[in-house]
Amino acid sequence: MKYLIGIDLGTSGTKTVLFDECGTVIKSHTVEYPMSQPKNGWAEQDPLDWYNAVIKTLKAVTDGIDASKIAGIGISGQMHSTVMLDKDNNVIRPAILWCDGRTAKECEEITERVGKERLIEITANPALTGFSASKILWVRNNEPQNYAKCAHILLAKDYIRFRLTGVYATDVSDASGMQLLDIKNRCWSDEVLHKLEIDKSMLAAVYESPDITGYTTKEIEALTGILQGTPVVGGAGDNAAAAVGTGVVENGRAFTTIGTSGVVFAHTKDMHLDKEGRVHTFCAAVPGEWHVMGVTLSAGQSLKWFRDNFCAEETEQAKADGVDTYYLMDNEAKDRPIGANGLIFVPYLMGERTPHLDPDCRGAFVGISGMHTRADFIRAVMEGVIYSLRDCSEVLKEMGISPTQMAACGGGAVSGLWRTMLSDVLDVNVCTMSSKEGPALGAAILAGVGAGVYGSVQEACQKVVKKVSVCEPDIKNHIQYEKVYQMYKKIYPALKMI
Ligand code: XUL
Repeated sequence: MKYLIGIDLGTSGTKTVLFDECGTVIKSHTVEYPMSQPKNGWAEQDPLDWYNAVIKTLKAVTDGIDASKIAGIGISGQMHSTVMLDKDNNVIRPAILWCDGRTAKECEEITERVGKERLIEITANPALTGFSASKILWVRNNEPQNYAKCAHILLAKDYIRFRLTGVYATDVSDASGMQLLDIKNRCWSDEVLHKLEIDKSMLAAVYESPDITGYTTKEIEALTGILQGTPVVGGAGDNAAAAVGTGVVENGRAFTTIGTSGVVFAHTKDMHLDKEGRVHTFCAAVPGEWHVMGVTLSAGQSLKWFRDNFCAEETEQAKADGVDTYYLMDNEAKDRPIGANGLIFVPYLMGERTPHLDPDCRGAFVGISGMHTRADFIRAVMEGVIYSLRDCSEVLKEMGISPTQMAACGGGAVSGLWRTMLSDVLDVNVCTMSSKEGPALGAAILAGVGAGVYGSVQEACQKVVKKVSVCEPDIKNHIQYEKVYQMYKKIYPALKMI
């Protein structure tokens, strides 16, 4: 039996998992790191924190195992987050993250240089503050001394690949989020690069997700025990990897993530575009296929923000009881009625993408009354996140994509309450998979395909990914939530006027 390693380089931490060929978790280890917000709407991380977390977790999961049995490594990562290296491969400045909204001006510049329609035609998306191209232009416009030193531009997981293998490479799914890729032809767009005056030699070589991109170095063997020469495959952006890890690799399949961000994701054999660009069309981790997805920027992040700032009592109690703080928060929210006694939360803590494309909007609680307790606020935060996911699914519906079943993924999917809300609000069956490791499992499956353990991504998913439970929507609850959702939808236009 061979082993496969999946690394999931998330925003709150890195989780590395050692699987066997059947997808069974042998060992899993997570190391967290901070995100800094030097200004309102900015978000940065130190790529060295990622690297240290990867080395620690790799060492932890491979300790005591026969390293010659590791067939391959796959990496999945937070998308769009951009790392710049100088000619000696030193990190020039902190990585600017996917949820950073500082680049509104650069988005206008991109639209002007490429043309709105042409940009959507080639990159399948309008200029977005979260995507890498605007971050590259921001550094060029605002920190010319840093841009002058820049020799290599890498996505988060591709910086880790570079440190593991010495190779500058990326995969089509993650590269899709740079806004420099020709999404239809799955290669860098010479036209966009030329119009934006970005030198192609700074970008990584593009591979399909299961392709082998390089092999681990001697230094990595010394640091982790993983043998020099272990293959590292293209891997995927975290959402494309989660799709593989939940078996969403065929037409009609879909999943929802409640992670730091929230995502509604559907696999499509052919390329589908929303002409208004409200959802993203990206290359899938399945070679030659695509996916569409809507993204709400602060999903789990909203509840984490509420926990960190207002739930000290629950945190203390959780420590004493040896349980997770979210577990206690969940129990409090469960006791409150649908609609949180008239309290509505909109989760735009970092601006919003789907469907509003507005980096400057901010969140709100609406309808606060003297009767509300912390439990109502927790419930309102959880419901608000689900309403923003409903917004994403409405856009997919308008595009003719209406899955009747969603796999649930991400840390938030552990909550039974959140899964039930999702099922009731979206009026779909929500299923959970046998493995909770979505992106890490997806990355490991891709490694298995690259290393020849499996014949194809689809074959691997059939063998490894299993559904364990299905939550069906309750029509009475759906009707109640629907009334609140209709009120929720009226809040953004009002916020826009402030
Ligand atoms: C996707 C996106 C987020 C990040 C989170 O476009 O920005 O889902 O990938 O890690």
